[in-house]
Amino acid sequence: MPSRPRDETIVLGIESTAHTFGVGIVSDNPPYILADVRRKWEPRSGGILPREVAEYFSKVAGEAVEEALGSAGLSIKEISAIAVSLGPGMGPALRVGATVARALALKHGKPLVPVNHAVAHIEVARWSTGLRDPVALYVAGGNTTVVSFVDRRYRVFGETLDIALGNLLDTFAREAGIAPPYIVSGQHAVDVCAEGGEFIEGIPYVVKGQDVSFSGILTASLKLLKRGARLRDVCYTLREVAFSSVVEVTERCVAHTGKKQVTLTGGVAANKLLNSKMEAMASLQDAVYKPVDVRLSGDNGVMIAVTGLAAFRSGVTVEPEKAFIRQKWRIDEVDIPWYPWMPGLG
Ligand code: FE2
Repeated sequence: MPSRPRDETIVLGIESTAHTFGVGIVSDNPPYILADVRRKWEPRSGGILPREVAEYFSKVAGEAVEEALGSAGLSIKEISAIAVSLGPGMGPALRVGATVARALALKHGKPLVPVNHAVAHIEVARWSTGLRDPVALYVAGGNTTVVSFVDRRYRVFGETLDIALGNLLDTFAREAGIAPPYIVSGQHAVDVCAEGGEFIEGIPYVVKGQDVSFSGILTASLKLLKRGARLRDVCYTLREVAFSSVVEVTERCVAHTGKKQVTLTGGVAANKLLNSKMEAMASLQDAVYKPVDVRLSGDNGVMIAVTGLAAFRSGVTVEPEKAFIRQKWRIDEVDIPWYPWMPGLG
């Protein structure tokens, strides 16, 4: 194995906010990603059960850290810092990641770097696309937010008033009996069922100021199905309405900020139709559009390590005994002193 450069910084990142326990190892020198280990908790039915998730994470955490170090060909001694996602997310799940990270930092005398999970979704999009200063649409199972950097922080330019976009798609699929709603090659179960569908009346398009709302779409879609509407038409319309509303608020943010770069990140960023709508919008605004690398769209440890690396290089650390989890830690509460710099982008 070639020897590593002497001034290299290597960060091990731990993700445990929701269903995935992820361990990523990232360097500021090529090939950058040294390990990406994920252990995903799968529900037997229905939604996420925080206690069960935490129990599962506790079982797999040790082996996931070992496997990451093994696949990177590194010993813990060669790691410069440990980064950990401290929120937002589910308390029991977050606690497992925080405990493991604190223990590693204390036992091996490594600096500990606190990372906000939402910031990490944006940073890994900047890192993987090379876009330095984008407007970002962050869409996932638990999040729907339009953000852009203004004056030290990511500011929220619009968000959902109720459920998240990913939650809308997953819950509809489950209730309509077309689950499992997993995305396969850029298509959600709702996308597959929308093929050949046509637009129908009855699903509300809700944009209030810069915010969107999906719970009315969910209720109306399920009602239409019960009344005998064709599944493909309901899927087609639900998607059109929901995607158009998030693209509309993103477009207004682009116009308002005058930024010329647009990105899409989070678990729903793998969706092909949403990507094509975002691309069309960006070109109307004369902006460059690039979505996050699809392999890094869902929750993973690499995004925590990348963000941790940037934060660590700009001096952000926390004492292990003060590294508390924050279930409702908002993206606009976090200073980003390294912005617009990103490790690996020069
Ligand atoms: Fe996430």
